[in-house]
Amino acid sequence: MNGSYLFRHLFLFTGIFPLLSCFSDIKAVKKAEDNYNNYCMGCHGPAKEKFVNKEWIYGKEHEEVFYSVKYGREEMGMPSFEAAFSDDEIDAMVNYLLEKNNDNDKILTSDKMIISSEVQNFYVDTVISGLSVVWGMTWLPDGNMLITERSGTLYRFANNELITIEGLPPVFVFGQGGLLDIELHPNYENTGWIYITYSKPAINPDKDGGNTALIRAKLDGNKLTNIEELYAGHPATRRGQHFGSRIEFDRNGYLYFTIGERGHKENAQLLGNSNGKLHRINDDGSVPIDNPFYNVEGADKTIYNFGHRNQQGLAMHPESGEIWSHEHGPRGGDEINIEKRGANYGWPEITFGINYNGTIITEDTAKAGMEQPVIYYDPSIAPSGMDFVEGTNYPNWKGNILIGSLRFRHLVRVVLNNDKVIHQEKLIEDIGRVRDVKMGPDNLIYVSVEGIGVLRLVPVD
Ligand code: HEC
Repeated sequence: MNGSYLFRHLFLFTGIFPLLSCFSDIKAVKKAEDNYNNYCMGCHGPAKEKFVNKEWIYGKEHEEVFYSVKYGREEMGMPSFEAAFSDDEIDAMVNYLLEKNNDNDKILTSDKMIISSEVQNFYVDTVISGLSVVWGMTWLPDGNMLITERSGTLYRFANNELITIEGLPPVFVFGQGGLLDIELHPNYENTGWIYITYSKPAINPDKDGGNTALIRAKLDGNKLTNIEELYAGHPATRRGQHFGSRIEFDRNGYLYFTIGERGHKENAQLLGNSNGKLHRINDDGSVPIDNPFYNVEGADKTIYNFGHRNQQGLAMHPESGEIWSHEHGPRGGDEINIEKRGANYGWPEITFGINYNGTIITEDTAKAGMEQPVIYYDPSIAPSGMDFVEGTNYPNWKGNILIGSLRFRHLVRVVLNNDKVIHQEKLIEDIGRVRDVKMGPDNLIYVSVEGIGVLRLVPVD
């Protein structure tokens, strides 16, 4: 029996405690809201937005939702909250989730509204609207954009029109997986290679799920041709979380890509397995012989470093040429890192975060032989997408890192002094779940926002 039901009946029967029952009801709702903000918002977004108009996977009856929260849906990455909440608290939470909410469509897309940020004024210009989760974006030499939508479609955006590019291999669209990142070869004009990561279905996806894979292909009109699989992550799993996945080239032409630990945290420390790693290969998929574990028996030769949870941001520092990254930690443990050869980033042996249900993963935040982050985020921001500001359009932001926040629905501007973070600012607050950010060929900042599409920040004096 849920709380408000009980109170309504008490009210009918007694009639003499209306104020009291009403007060308790409000308290239960408030408590559920607080619990939501502390325990659920990181993954499900503020104002329970993802539950409004949700396409329910496990059903929207009270008991079904109750079950999801209490026992979790491990295969999809939904943790169990049995240890964190009493049944009454879960009841209140379910009521809170299922009640209608109209305060939910506050989205800022009005063009040309000047935003005065700390050291730069700009307006937000909508480039493409009507897309769901745009994971990756890049530009062809002719200025056409290539865009991946996680739900499995690759688009070319040209002359204000979205054209579907045919010829992708089958994509395993499941949980956080689907069609993922896209990058051009640094010498695209001569080679014509396009690199794409996606969740590749196992031979029997119903049983074994899938894992992140990397292909390269060429473009013939609006069709992918010459597809070559350069890497397929192993082992595959039915879990729906932590696919990575970002691609970046460095100055020497090495290709880096990330795969998360796929919901099995012990993977991150195992060198015989792809997951929880940053990989480095040559542009044709061959492995550089100076990779750190090239000669280590049983290790994956492509591993460049390890101990990562789920990296969804990767960008080359424009001056030092180093690869910088960020990763989703557990609650309170998101990180920015500089990627070093052969290093161990510590997950799950060390972390600044705790489990989503409030329990401890490890007491250790540091250990000999393990890297410390440049900075960690508590509360977690749920970072996605990363780039350095370059060019002359935003002189006061030059060299800053931009990072999308899925959780807080803004863009984070990170000011560095060498390798130290000295200041941060929130840009385009409340815009929506920011999935990717990239400097375009016009040296404008492009941002993809879930449920909107692609926006850009146009500087004004
Ligand atoms: C680690 C991230 C994470 C946290 C924290 C989390 N969830 Fe989930 N939850 C998921 C994922 C992923 C799914 C499956 C995909 C989806 O429904 O969005 C899910 C599914 C669910 C479902 C089932 C939805 C359906 O379609 O049937 C419910 C209900 C739910 N979560 C409630 C909660 C509540 C309440 C909390 C906080 C107490 C919470 N979740 C915390 C990740 C999380």
